[in-house]
Amino acid sequence: MRIFFLDQSGKLGGAELCLIDIAKPYCDGALVGLFADGEFKNLLQQNNIPVEVLTTQAIQVRKESSLLPGLNSLGQLIPLITKVIIKAREYDLIYANTQKALVVGALASFFSRRPLVYHLHDILSTEHFSQTNLRIAVNLANRFASLVIANSQASKTAFIEAGGRRDIVEVVYNGFDPKIYQTDKSAINKLQQDLELEGKFVVGHFSRLAPWKGQHILIDALAKCPPQVTVILVGDALFGEHNYVQQLHQQVAKLGLQNRVKFLGFRSDIPQLMAACDLVAHTSTSPEPFGRVIVEAMLCQKPVVAAKAGGAMELVEHGLNGFLVTPGEPLELAQVITTCLQETEITATIAKNARITASERFDIATINQQITQLLSHLMSA
Ligand code: UDP
Ligand code: GLC
Repeated sequence: MRIFFLDQSGKLGGAELCLIDIAKPYCDGALVGLFADGEFKNLLQQNNIPVEVLTTQAIQVRKESSLLPGLNSLGQLIPLITKVIIKAREYDLIYANTQKALVVGALASFFSRRPLVYHLHDILSTEHFSQTNLRIAVNLANRFASLVIANSQASKTAFIEAGGRRDIVEVVYNGFDPKIYQTDKSAINKLQQDLELEGKFVVGHFSRLAPWKGQHILIDALAKCPPQVTVILVGDALFGEHNYVQQLHQQVAKLGLQNRVKFLGFRSDIPQLMAACDLVAHTSTSPEPFGRVIVEAMLCQKPVVAAKAGGAMELVEHGLNGFLVTPGEPLELAQVITTCLQETEITATIAKNARITASERFDIATINQQITQLLSHLMSA
């Protein structure tokens, strides 16, 4: 099957990392078309997945944009849409991986008469999007997509509640290769030495720096934890959230936590860094659509504490293979961190359970089979 994947981003967000795993089995006949240049292109190339940057002009619409900038940008999009329509004729299927890719993909699907699949990585609610953006996404999906793949039950439910068609949406979780998360002890020791983490109880937060990812909640919680607890913040402001980064630094200084919080920026050695932690914290203040970092921590056999909302609730069973806390509540988070520090045996059992369940439920081979089945069914129909 020849698939034309479309993604608006040149950056490495979760949706893009997920797409690499999905596109790999199809790489011979596939093309990934991007609407921006960047690290994502390089990683696709390293994985031998054909990729082309289709436009160098930035698309101005944001998640919270209203109708007018949206309409303005449609004009900007015409050369891109034309290019996508022409290219789409060389493929069997268009696979839109992001919202702007859905807009372009829907029009291209109509004019090239190729079926459209929309991989929904978002919770389509007003907590994340403007009404206008929601309406556009749902109407385009309803009208043009033959299949919507939702990354969790939570994303599927939000799609239907926003008016999305129930008969076209299927849930497929992100897949992972469990082998990547088995790390070498000596590499971990070296990291701990380099980052001066030895003897500390390390809580890792792995996410782009953005207000709704809630790094500020973890910093507030840290101020309520015993002094040996240290935090590493792994990730960068991918989409221009520079004010938030400044606020985080100010918050750390105000609480006198400079020696207990390390900002590591964007890293490519996530399994090793997770292995160097004692606990991984996920602190999103709005419902997380899926939450790759939660599964990655589980695969690394690390205890994980996640914000109890959205997809996270489908990944973690509290007290069995992780911990769930009320989103935006630093005190509750601090209590779980302190329990993990003190109750090492129970915590280790929970982490072990986490690795077993995550390896079973999110194995990339099984997930890719699910996608292949859905796409084959669609093509034969
Ligand atoms: N990640 C990374 N380097 C970093 C921070 C995060 O490679 O410095 C990865 C992380 O391991 C995860 C992805 O980025 O696979 C983030 O996906 P997630 O679903 O957790 O959140 P998103 O950013 O997509 O909302
Ligand atoms: C999006 C979501 C995240 C999800 C990822 C992969 O970036 O924000 O929750 O894990 O896509 O589906």
